[in-house]
Formats: sequence, structure tokens, C-alpha cells
Amino acid sequence: MKGGYDHFMQKEIHEQPESLLQTMRGRVQFQRPAVGNPYLTPRVKLGGLVEHGATVRRCRRIMLVACGTSFHACLAARKTLEEMCEVPVMLELASDFLDRRCPIFRDDTCVFLSQSGETADTLRSLEYAKAHGALCLGITNTVGSAISRMTHCGVHLNAGYEIGVASTKAYTSQILAVTMMALQLAEDSISKRDRRDSIIDELGQLPGKVRSTLMLDGAMKELAEELRNAHSLLFFGRGYNYATALEAALKAGYWGLHGACGAGLRPRCSLPTIKEVALIHSEGILAGEMKHGPLALVDEHLPIVVIATRDGMYKKMESVIQQLLARNAQLYIVCNENDEGMKQYESRGCKLIQASGKSLS
Ligand code: UD1
Ligand code: F6R
Repeated sequence: MKGGYDHFMQKEIHEQPESLLQTMRGRVQFQRPAVGNPYLTPRVKLGGLVEHGATVRRCRRIMLVACGTSFHACLAARKTLEEMCEVPVMLELASDFLDRRCPIFRDDTCVFLSQSGETADTLRSLEYAKAHGALCLGITNTVGSAISRMTHCGVHLNAGYEIGVASTKAYTSQILAVTMMALQLAEDSISKRDRRDSIIDELGQLPGKVRSTLMLDGAMKELAEELRNAHSLLFFGRGYNYATALEAALKAGYWGLHGACGAGLRPRCSLPTIKEVALIHSEGILAGEMKHGPLALVDEHLPIVVIATRDGMYKKMESVIQQLLARNAQLYIVCNENDEGMKQYESRGCKLIQASGKSLS
């Protein structure tokens, strides 16, 4: 059942190239237009959203509601959804959404993300939003689950069963599903066409890039040995990688793709999350907030992972690295393969973790 892996979490992490393909299968058309044939353009078609697409495009705001890792997926995908749809996108932790009795209007679109499709707070948020007249979409991995049945429409991830307690491959498929939804909703926008086509091109390369990043597994085991006695770990990210920082802090094991592809820190025991199991205190921090508190914690004893991939946040992350080094921080920098700019920091005692592939800007 575990196919040679030590535990299901590890197996499911390594299934990501395939689960990502399954999420796209039959839904993404990658072809570039043939000369003289305007119909073969790259496009996304999510069967579950065809009927309600026009209503979503006209809505006042889109609210993404979820718990835990599914919430991190919402955070990772929000920028693309906002960029493609030009509609305000709000993020809601389901428990807080309910505690506040968040105002919901009939022209809102609420999207509920859940791997299992059964999480109590997310389900109760769905009941609440539905009772207030919003259009309710589900993004779930479980066909026939309560959320899948109760939403007006939605998208199944098709990522395959997730048996490990900590969510892994569903996280990357959730980011992918929201991205696909954004691409489909922007289908008629001429001004977004080039950007849309380039994202679709990148999606075609995604499984391969995840596969090559997973080859960092061995290097990550060595790193885990080094960090196993740490009392605390911080993860700094910004832009897309704020979600990566939060998710990395939650998981011992694997981090990557803006969000997902990594291969990772082996926990002290065979169970999965840093906070829950490895018992190392860890925090994901928005790098833009560094000066407003977290910097005071930094010294040579606190290991910090900085995610500084080649995207729109690169320059700002370089400045974060310099400020952390000025306080003698012990840094592990996650950057792109062959990033010459980051090489200089090796001579200043930083360790580079180099992920494959170009990042979205
Ligand atoms: C569907 C079929 C798939 C078939 C394909 C061929 C199912 C489950 N899927 O996939 O087997 O190969 O058509 O055209 O039969 N939905 C919700 N809430 C959710 C998730 C989904 O209401 O949280 C609804 C969707 O709106 C849709 C239906 O469930 O009406 C199936 O969703 P999905 O599996 O994503 O649709 P397709 O990819 O079109
Ligand atoms: C952490 C983890 C949890 C779930 C959360 C929501 O690794 O797995 O944080 O993400 O309980 O579960 P779903 O997605 O099933 O609603």
C-alpha cells in the first residue's frame, strides 16, 4: 500500500507530479494556436463551473473559506484570482467567519476549499453562506462529500485518496484548481490573454518541475539532521510565498512550489507536522512584517528559512536576507536553481536550498 515509502505522507508527497496532472486532466488545453486556426488556443474548462461562470464574473466579491492547509492554499492562489477576475478576493478562516457572523450578500460568491469535504467549520460556514443567499462553490477532493453535495457547483480535485493525516498533495492541487478557475473566469478578457496563455504554458511544465524538486529529498534529510535539535524555527516569505512560509511552518517534511514541491525536513519521529509532532516551535512570518516585531527575536541561535525565489518579491527578499545577516542569523535560503545572485550568501554562512524552475512573477 505504501509502495516502498516509510509512511503515507511521504508517498503522497511523491505522488504530486501525478496528482497535479490528474487535476488538470481533460480540463486544460495546452496547444498554442495553429496559424490560421484561432480555435486551438490554450484554455481551461472546468465542467462544474460552466453553468455558473457568468454569475461569478458579475459578483461583488469572492470569498475563499477554509481551515488549516486548505486555508494556506487560498492564500497562495488569491493573487492570481484577483489578477485574472479583477474582483476583490477575501480570505476567511472558517471558524472566524462563523464567530464573526461575517456579513454575506446575495451577490457574493463563496468558495469552500476542503480536501475531505467534511470539515465541520467549513461545512457550517457553507450552510451559513447558503442561508444568506450567496452562490456557493466547492473545491474538494472527495466526490460525494458533504461540501461537494451541498454546494451549488464546484470542482473536484481528482488528486487521489489522501490517507496521511497531514494534507500534502491536496494542497498543491487546491492551488492549481483555484488558478484554473481564475483562468477560466478570465477566458473572455482580451487584455488578460497573454498573461493567461503564459500561465497555461507554465502549468504544462509544473509536474516536471515538481518531480525534479522532489529529487532534493536526500539533501533535505541532511538538513533535517542539522535542525533536529533546534528549539524554534522561523520561515519568512512574501507574495505567493507567504503561504509557503505558513505551510512550511505547519509541516515538517516538505515544502515547495509556491507552495508545494519541496522535499523536506524529516521530523524527529515518523509523524508529520513540526508543530503537532516534531514538537519544534515554528512560525511562518510575512517578510514585510519583519521590522514590526519578529526582528527582535533574531540572533545566531535561531535557524531561519527564507524563501527567496525569482519572482516579483526577489529584491525585497534580498533586503530581508541582508537585515537578518546583520543580526548574525543562521539562514537557510530557498531559491531557484542556479541563482547566481544568491550564491554570494554562501560565503557568509548561509545554506542554499535550490528548487527547480522559474517562478511566477
Ligand atoms: C465530470 C465527472 C467526470 C467526467 C467528466 C466528463 C464526476 C464526479 N465527474 O467531471 O467523471 O469524466 O465530467 O465530462 O462525475 N461539484 C459541486 N461541488 C463541489 C465539487 C463539484 O457541486 O465541491 C459539482 C460540479 O459543479 C459538477 C459535478 O459536481 O456539476 C462534478 O464536478 P467535477 O468532477 O469537478 O466535474 P468534471 O471535471 O466536469
Ligand atoms: C494540516 C492539515 C489540516 C487540514 C484541515 C482542513 O496538515 O491537514 O490543517 O488542512 O484540517 O482539512 P480539510 O482540507 O479536509 O477541510
